[in-house]
Amino acid sequence: MTGKRKRILTGDRPTGKLHLGHYVGTLNNRVKLQHEYDTFILIADIQALTTHYDRPGMIRQAVRDVTLDYLAVGIDPNVATICVQSLIPEIAELTVLYGLITNMNKLRHNPTTKAEAQQLGLIQGEDLMTGFDQLTYGFFGYPISQAADITFVNADLVPVGRDQMPHIELCRDIVKKFNGIFGTSIKEPEGLVGEAFLHALDGSAKMSKSLNNAIFLADEPAQIKAQVMKAVTDPARIHPTDPGTPEICNVYKYHQVFSKEIVEETAKKCRAGTIGCVACKKVLVKHLESLLTPFRELRKEFESKPDEVDEILIEGTKRARREGKKTLEHIRERMGTDYFGQKTSELLPVP
Ligand code: TRP
Repeated sequence: MTGKRKRILTGDRPTGKLHLGHYVGTLNNRVKLQHEYDTFILIADIQALTTHYDRPGMIRQAVRDVTLDYLAVGIDPNVATICVQSLIPEIAELTVLYGLITNMNKLRHNPTTKAEAQQLGLIQGEDLMTGFDQLTYGFFGYPISQAADITFVNADLVPVGRDQMPHIELCRDIVKKFNGIFGTSIKEPEGLVGEAFLHALDGSAKMSKSLNNAIFLADEPAQIKAQVMKAVTDPARIHPTDPGTPEICNVYKYHQVFSKEIVEETAKKCRAGTIGCVACKKVLVKHLESLLTPFRELRKEFESKPDEVDEILIEGTKRARREGKKTLEHIRERMGTDYFGQKTSELLPVP
């Protein structure tokens, strides 16, 4: 499984179940890439706690939900390594070390943390410094922790959404500087931006749990139908026989992704006014159901075997820790903090 294959590390914050936006944006890609790359998928619970530290029970549930969603879409635990961030002390250790050499202004000017702080109402305007009474050290610094996530296994490639690229850039900066100072040979990872992006059916900028417009991978047919039926279509179409403009219709955008076989025919019918929006939505529901039903069934199967799911996370986390141990031994040796030679690592056992 290890060999000379290039390595991927990617991950998610566990703050709830995963939805179709996650699937199209990254999960389906990971299912393919897991066979080509030695793939690590990190459930970033500590990062989730940087914004939700007052809701640890919610994070605990979400760790399980996200794992089930991974397994449901076809992440194969015999091929890919699923691991839990908080149970990998090497990541925490690396975060502290990277913090030694990262300048505050690098964190202060990160566009992604800025946007998040704005959404959370923690800053006024653009500058993270305006929020220093509200922002925590952990949130302000989480991109450092993400650099540790990526490099504790020496990943080559990080498949992520576009919004994550500033974090990859920071990671590369940190690695360059760290290697330069200490003579380590940590890899500078490349970001791999997924092309697909799913707009929300209701016309919002994105699908999101908080906007109440998400179709979750675990949703039952009735829930899928309810979301699709409230989709915003071409507003100029009043009657089903009015000629429509598919290009401005949210349902059409979904047909382009989920109903490729009939998308042209559907566009033609819409333009001719021979299919109404309700009928067109029903066709989409069918296609979504045929995608999601096998996922839902596999998810239920794993849900009924919680011990097996535990074992997947335990084994994945152990493997990740073994990799982390190697990385940290190399770093300690180069930094000269292996004060007792070989015996140093006896102080830091890995299961
Ligand atoms: N920040 C990522 C997100 O919000 C989640 C994440 C945490 C991650 N650690 C990572 C992604 C390491 C890629 C690599 O989606």
